[in-house]
Amino acid sequence: MWWLLVSLLFLGFIMARPRNSQPYCFTNDTDRYHQFATKTPYNYSRGHFSSLDLVPDGCVAVQAWHLIRHGTRYPDKDDTEHFVLELPGMQTSVLKAHEKGQGELCEGDLSLLSGWSLGIINTSWASILAPEGELEMEGLASRYKVALPSLFDQQFSNDSFKFRHTASQRTKASATAYSKGLFDDASIYIPPALDPDPLLKFYDMCEKYKVEVEDNPAARREGHLFWEGPEVGKVVDSVSHRLGIPCTRGELKLLYDACRFYQAWQPAQPSPWCVAFTPHDLQVLEYYYDLEEYYTAGFGHNINTAMACPPLQDVYQHFSNAVWRGQGPRGIFYFTHSKAVISVMSRLGLYRDRAPLTHRHMNPRRLWRTSQHGSFATNLAFTLSICNQNRWWVSVATSEQMAALEGCEGPRGCSWEEFTQLLSGSQHCDLDVICAVTPSGSGSPAEGKGWEGMPMQILLSILLASDMFL
Ligand SMILES: *[C@@H]1O[C@H](CO)[C@@H](O)[C@H](O)[C@H]1NC(C)=O
Ligand SMILES: *[C@@H]1O[C@H](CO)[C@@H](O)[C@H](O)[C@H]1NC(C)=O
Ligand SMILES: *[C@@H]1O[C@H](CO)[C@@H](O)[C@H](O)[C@H]1NC(C)=O
Ligand SMILES: *[C@@H]1O[C@H](CO)[C@@H](O)[C@H](O)[C@H]1NC(C)=O
Repeated sequence: MWWLLVSLLFLGFIMARPRNSQPYCFTNDTDRYHQFATKTPYNYSRGHFSSLDLVPDGCVAVQAWHLIRHGTRYPDKDDTEHFVLELPGMQTSVLKAHEKGQGELCEGDLSLLSGWSLGIINTSWASILAPEGELEMEGLASRYKVALPSLFDQQFSNDSFKFRHTASQRTKASATAYSKGLFDDASIYIPPALDPDPLLKFYDMCEKYKVEVEDNPAARREGHLFWEGPEVGKVVDSVSHRLGIPCTRGELKLLYDACRFYQAWQPAQPSPWCVAFTPHDLQVLEYYYDLEEYYTAGFGHNINTAMACPPLQDVYQHFSNAVWRGQGPRGIFYFTHSKAVISVMSRLGLYRDRAPLTHRHMNPRRLWRTSQHGSFATNLAFTLSICNQNRWWVSVATSEQMAALEGCEGPRGCSWEEFTQLLSGSQHCDLDVICAVTPSGSGSPAEGKGWEGMPMQILLSILLASDMFL
């Protein structure tokens, strides 16, 4: 009798499970999840500072320094090719599966997906700035112009405003769009890019970073373990059930990129491929990409922040020139990539969690969120002001949100003395020394090896990595 009851209960559980609640319906969701790690549209990550946040009462702005990631772009060549080759076929399969009663997309989601087409995608546009990216830059610049009229409300001149971008279309076009927002003029003089650029692409000139992190699969161990682990496994199942077609982990990446890229190009519209995911699925994928950034640009490895001194040395030199000699431009604007902006923010101690991020614990209250601080157009802005009694003040904003720095008392910035102290460690910034590869670490340890064939050095570095966080 007892046994029968248990069996019945168990059977009921199994039968009820797939239908025990209505599957998530993306198109009916009025508060959709928009946190897509480093491919989050700027509109969803930015803050709303005021003029008084940047320049306190009794102060006058003297100089502004901005480090800016390019705006929303198109996918790179490989990703574009995958979009073109795979997405139309998957769309057809999903619609067919639902005709046969497989899959669990609601009516609205199905019709959103059936209305999708590749549209603007074209490999000849690989990695270039998207129109939405231009709008992001223009909008950012025009809000700074409103917030700092005494600095920016004037015509462009080469002496007063300094622009610099990396050697790529998307950062150059970002600089142009920014100048349009600032001066209502997209034809100002912007000097040609330096290539290589030790200021804006220091990571490309850092051998130690290449050897220890970029070309070393062991450096991304946590991300790898998370990707192969049960959480992502559940997302694969969930997506396969929703779409009614079996998906691999590779296809999961493709679908996530389709979801977030189309979302970034048109932030106000629902993005058709996002129907594949529940909000929880999106949080899991977001965490995977957070882990990746944490170990390749953040606190995960010492070299990531050690090499990020050039921009901080630069801002200090510009500001001290203004403070001590009353010289320099009104605005300094640098256009670069996520790795530069994220590693510089990390070097300042921003978004640092007490415990390192690992594959084991997807902490929902973590500070490290690239959807917030690593989105498209994410930026770090210092504003130098002179205040009553000849005191100087530096405000700090990340993506238009005021930031408190470790070592500065103010919730929005630092006194000149605190700022000097904070950046003193970045004044001796010799990449030749910082990035020198010690003989034992030389060679290319990671070359062509999977996890099993891992050389001793890498195994050692994994062990050492756990100490590095302290
Ligand atoms: C979505 O909204 C429509 C219209 O309000 C409603 O008829 C439908 O039942 C909803 N579907 C789900 C899955 O919540
Ligand atoms: C992509 O753009 C090129 C050049 O503008 C054009 O010739 C080609 O037809 C386009 N391809 C697609 C798939 O639209
Ligand atoms: C961001 O959102 C605002 C309104 O919320 C909208 O006017 C604007 O076009 C959006 N896009 C950009 C790039 O600012
Ligand atoms: C800025 O400098 C460039 C290159 O020297 C020059 O061609 C341009 O006319 C200058 N622009 C202004 C507004 O002075």
